[in-house]
Amino acid sequence: MKNPREFWKNVHENNYRKYLGLYPPKRVLAYHKIDPKSLVRKRVMDLGVGDGSMCAYLQAIDAEPVAIDIVEEAICNIECEKYLSNDIKECPPVDVAIGHLLFQHCEDDEMSRILEDIQLKPGGYISFQIADLTEDGDYYIRDRKQRTVVFRTESQASDIIEYAGRSIIKFDRCVAKPPVDWIFYRVS
Ligand SMILES: C[S@@+](CC[C@H](N)C(=O)[O-])C[C@H]1O[C@@H](n2cnc3c(N)ncnc32)[C@H](O)[C@@H]1O
Repeated sequence: MKNPREFWKNVHENNYRKYLGLYPPKRVLAYHKIDPKSLVRKRVMDLGVGDGSMCAYLQAIDAEPVAIDIVEEAICNIECEKYLSNDIKECPPVDVAIGHLLFQHCEDDEMSRILEDIQLKPGGYISFQIADLTEDGDYYIRDRKQRTVVFRTESQASDIIEYAGRSIIKFDRCVAKPPVDWIFYRVS
């Protein structure tokens, strides 16, 4: 993507639903195999807040959301601790950071920077999803050319995780929508 800030500013200002709030928070946590009960009274970073529904859900279950996004337009209406993505380093340690439908929109260096900059509490983890293209399909070829979606194989993702100094605790693959698989990583 040539200018991610401009792209996402436009998405948020125009509320493009193709990119925002596609999955209810409970379903996102189920995909990541995170029990909502385990988040109660924990500091939970939402990486790439979208329409803000995850932060609202976290507040409702008595977790402490920390909102992160690349553009101010996404986080200005969210009532919680918030940081622009470039300032993640300034955020005090969190128990859990969740990135859903984020890294498939980030180039390698940005994915690596984000993973590196997050400060975790002892025992904390980052859970995120990436998209892997298992075969070519028209829709995805179009997106790939526009580079709004970045596809990665397991080994490409592992290289970035290692480069960012993170260790994989576990990973898991599921079919998202053929020909796309999602891979879920939990790293420390
Ligand atoms: C496809 S939306 C996903 C939103 C939400 N996580 C969800 O699952 O519905 C991607 C979100 O990540 C944000 N974003 C994109 N690039 C980012 C970056 N480099 N750092 C932080 N947030 C970013 C976008 O502004 C947008 O809010």
